[in-house]
Amino acid sequence: MQPFESFESGVRYYCRRWPAVFATASGSTITDEHGVEYLDFFAGAGALSYGHNNPVLVEVAIDHLRHGKLLHSLDTFTEDKRRFLSAIHDLILEPRQLDMVVQTVGPTGATAVEAALTLAQRVTGKRAVVGFAGGYHGMSYRAASVSASMAGRETVAHLGAFVALPFVEHMAEGDLDLLDQALSSTIDGEQVGAIIIEPTQGEGGARPFDPAYLGALRKIATAHDVVVIADEVQAGVGRTGPFFSFEGSGLDPDIICVSKSISGLGLPMALNLVRRSLDTWAPGEFTGTFRGNNLAFATSATMLDTYWTTADQEKATEERGVLVRNHLCAISEEFSGGKWQVRGSGMLSGLQVTSGDVADAICDAAFADKLIVETCGAGGATIKVLAPIVTSMEQLADGLTRLRSAVASTVS
Ligand SMILES: Cc1ncc(COP(=O)(O)O)c(C=O)c1O
Repeated sequence: MQPFESFESGVRYYCRRWPAVFATASGSTITDEHGVEYLDFFAGAGALSYGHNNPVLVEVAIDHLRHGKLLHSLDTFTEDKRRFLSAIHDLILEPRQLDMVVQTVGPTGATAVEAALTLAQRVTGKRAVVGFAGGYHGMSYRAASVSASMAGRETVAHLGAFVALPFVEHMAEGDLDLLDQALSSTIDGEQVGAIIIEPTQGEGGARPFDPAYLGALRKIATAHDVVVIADEVQAGVGRTGPFFSFEGSGLDPDIICVSKSISGLGLPMALNLVRRSLDTWAPGEFTGTFRGNNLAFATSATMLDTYWTTADQEKATEERGVLVRNHLCAISEEFSGGKWQVRGSGMLSGLQVTSGDVADAICDAAFADKLIVETCGAGGATIKVLAPIVTSMEQLADGLTRLRSAVASTVS
């Protein structure tokens, strides 16, 4: 495995889980340097919802490069950005009655979160943030400080006043009081200016919040003059079916963080959708060298035109989600008598097994059978099925059959 083990930092992780040298990829498969093909149910941690090397988008990228089109542009006006802005406005924002502007930021989800927190503080003058147990928002210091382990308060970093409320699967008496109290209190002497929430948690275990809670949260936040930030970095761009995972819940966020699959082709790209009335940035107040990835604007505009002019992809994703859920429920029934919880929404699904060790062993057995699948959730005990949303039903059934065999070889 030279030169990886000699020259690369010990922080490397996924290569330990999947020790192959990958070479090419297409749709929902990756092929290694020896020609061995793997089914990819991880999809670049959710950055490849539209599949590896999506053929329509590859053509756009080749055309872009062949014609000497601009690649890097900071936030200057470009043809490709114009096309992208029109597409996201016309196909996504306007039909959902979201009066929002697009703030492009440096190309990671964490940067979008940084910008959202900074804007919320700027708008409200209040510095403390409320988040949720299981929330994950990135590894920059501030984004890590508003992420919280399943246990609640512990974060991997501590920068600024923050408190994590419990995850709400089914709203119960007391949940709204807890939220109301959190927004009324001061945290480390600071008033609360923002709530950050993944309406469907990804790293936290593929779990959607109760939509009724999301709607109520909106009302309580408004009453307290608190900005609602929806982190849709993983669950957005159609992963759960609708374009945004909060659709239909009444969450009506002030800022939506978007990244991962927004380019359609796995290119680095991140942005915030900001309620027009909150867009109080002074010119150049939040910058970033790589805000203008025109290759990504071009592929993103085409992805939106290709998949979001009709409801077909949304329906297809939901249909695939049902297939995944049915298989996971059958596995749970067969190997745990139904005790293992099946969670998720659309193509962001998970199976919570007995422990992180069991989940790891299942992922290893799956890899031996050429299936790439990863864990998430409390103690890493949830196996997350995050296949591209364009995976065929046959490939999905094939991968889920391999997952069943991996479970069988691990636990029986
Ligand atoms: C919900 C959510 N927010 C933010 C991030 C951070 O994105 P990035 O790794 O691009 O900084 C992630 C990454 O997994 C995520 O799942």
